[in-house]
Amino acid sequence: MALRIIRQEEDEILRKKSRPVEKIDDKIKELVKDMIETMHKYDGVGLAAVQVGVLKQVVVIDTYEEGSQIYVLINPEIIKTKGLREVEEGCLSFPNKFAKVKRPEEVYIRALNEEGKEIKIKAKGILAQAICHEIDHLNGEVFIDKIIPGTLEIITPEKK
Ligand code: NI
Repeated sequence: MALRIIRQEEDEILRKKSRPVEKIDDKIKELVKDMIETMHKYDGVGLAAVQVGVLKQVVVIDTYEEGSQIYVLINPEIIKTKGLREVEEGCLSFPNKFAKVKRPEEVYIRALNEEGKEIKIKAKGILAQAICHEIDHLNGEVFIDKIIPGTLEIITPEKK
């Protein structure tokens, strides 16, 4: 396993669409492991492959909630969403920026896991938020483009 470099906001790759994974081979499995390690290293809730420079439809999510698991979503598709709520959001590619966005209250998706098995997830709360945020990344969309006006906070990193 290896940490990958997270692409930052000015990087044009973040605006590009990711392609579906055709075959879950060793390279994809290694990518998934590296993405999980990288997400955990930076205390992220989710990471999309494009954020480490790979334009493939691969997402990892860990909400750190009690009893939760790490989700690996390959070629995820939203089947249905329900409701809309305002939530505070950030992104590892925009490490100093936080803002409010609107996200579905519930989302129902279909994806493949890292073994190529089809999974369906009905999610609420932070998991639903993370799934929608990461699927946006696969479409070349970033949260900063959909923030609710006047809610952006820029945090100056503490000097160490
Ligand atoms: Ni993000």
